Amino acid sequence: MVPVLLSLSLFHLGLWASGLILVLGFFKLACLLLRRQKLARAMDCFPGPTTHWLFGHALEIQQTGSLDKAVSWAHQFPYAHPLWLGPFLGFLNIYEPDYVKAVYSRGDPKASDVYDFFLQWIGKGLLLLEGPKWFQHRKLLIPAFHHDVLKPYVAVFVDSTRIMLDKWEKKSREDKCFDIFCDVGHMALDTLMKCTFGRGDSGLSHRDNSYYLAVSDLTLLMQQRVDSFQYHNDFIYWLTPHGRRFLRACQVAHDHTDQVIRERKAALQDEKEQEKIQKRRHLDFLDILLGAWDENGSKLSDEDLRAEVDTFMFAGHDTTTSGICWFLYCMARYPEHQDRCREEIREILGDRDTVQWDDLGKMTYLTMCIKESFRLYPPVPQVYRQLSKPVNFVDGRSLPAGSLISLHIYALHRNGNVWSDPEVFDPLRFTPENTAGRHPFAFIPFSAGPRNCIGQQFAMNEVKVVTALCLLRFELSLDPLQPPIKMPQLILRSKNGFHLHLKPLGPGSGM
Ligand code: HEM
Repeated sequence: MVPVLLSLSLFHLGLWASGLILVLGFFKLACLLLRRQKLARAMDCFPGPTTHWLFGHALEIQQTGSLDKAVSWAHQFPYAHPLWLGPFLGFLNIYEPDYVKAVYSRGDPKASDVYDFFLQWIGKGLLLLEGPKWFQHRKLLIPAFHHDVLKPYVAVFVDSTRIMLDKWEKKSREDKCFDIFCDVGHMALDTLMKCTFGRGDSGLSHRDNSYYLAVSDLTLLMQQRVDSFQYHNDFIYWLTPHGRRFLRACQVAHDHTDQVIRERKAALQDEKEQEKIQKRRHLDFLDILLGAWDENGSKLSDEDLRAEVDTFMFAGHDTTTSGICWFLYCMARYPEHQDRCREEIREILGDRDTVQWDDLGKMTYLTMCIKESFRLYPPVPQVYRQLSKPVNFVDGRSLPAGSLISLHIYALHRNGNVWSDPEVFDPLRFTPENTAGRHPFAFIPFSAGPRNCIGQQFAMNEVKVVTALCLLRFELSLDPLQPPIKMPQLILRSKNGFHLHLKPLGPGSGM
């Protein structure tokens, strides 16, 4: 073979290579066309908005106001409609509780066309795993969210929030509006690092700081990748400067996680260190993962440990950041609810300036306001599945195995057939009486069914602590010149940040 190749001229080699690329290209195109045909045929009985032959609905989705468009489509096409991201990727977009229940009460796998973008960074952790391995990991990780583990985290939330509020106190002296998004993001990442790796009591080391920067960078790069068609193909992406920057940041994040795991494992061999860990005021997430055994006596491998830690860092920080920012925006926009929340917090805390575990269950009005802000501004606006078996919907229509589903949480939460005056901010929707008759799949900011968010209690506790302390310390109002512009990018962001005016309430405020 080699002598034959050598005897060919460069020209012939080029000809062969182009021929091969052409054949492979045709083959790939034929597969894609076949797939398109299959997906389109499956959705034949679902009418939907007009589709561009090349872009599908991608252009509408990338524009500002795409979420309002999604709500108007949901109004026009009850239950569900096809949604095409480019020529080959077609989902059935659903936003009606019974439709959601039909799919999300089962454990169908995630749609790899979307979720594989995360793989390089977070590996096969809980978010991306499927089948028996997902089930085994989920069982192993549930104890990490037991309330005995969550209890001491309240002090961690308080510490990180204080650092942020002190920063805001200084900024607020200028009596100008400022964007709170980055500070909330840093606070949420700092908290999660402390709860995951046990860092923080002695401050973040240089290595921790590089990790912290890498995680921020990875989140941003991943969002840009999802948005940019040209980056969707792995091969092309890794060749671009953007893709190479992503790989470098991944390396920093992986090196950090691996080293922390190595150090912790070594410490566990040492009896004195073991005593120290037991005396620590709280177990962190890594302690629990390292101590997790399943019923067959197996432990998580190093690769699994890293994937789970990285998954938590990814799934846990941007989501809470979005939730907290939109909630504070709602408080600034609806001062009457802000005042009621503040009154409630003052009543619960008395002259204390800190929040404790037992306070959280008493914050009923604040909790209703958080839920209402999660309804109007769900931090994760869309999630995707690929059907492992056919599904029959309540109205008699069905979809075959292999079909792709997009659950539009944002459109579901503003569905006029489910919510009266869906655009109105009304926390009383979440009183026990008003919640009693509601469809269990009508309000699902943490998704629903077996693949719901494992971190939801952690997240709710964090949001309550952070927002309660913010409201105690500041009166919030809007910047009328810069209202947030909703933008779905994995999480629900604002294109221009969250510009608020913060008025310190002084020592008499309870802080
Ligand atoms: C306000 C904050 C949060 C919101 C709104 C939220 C929302 C969600 C949603 C919608 C899903 C389903 C994703 C899908 O189906 O693709 C999910 C899954 C998940 N979340 Fe959260 N999340 C939040 C905070 C957290 C935190 C703090 C953690 C961890 C510390 C976490 C860890 C996870 C994990 C591991 C999964 C995958 C669960 C599985 O598939 O078994 N989340 N989250």
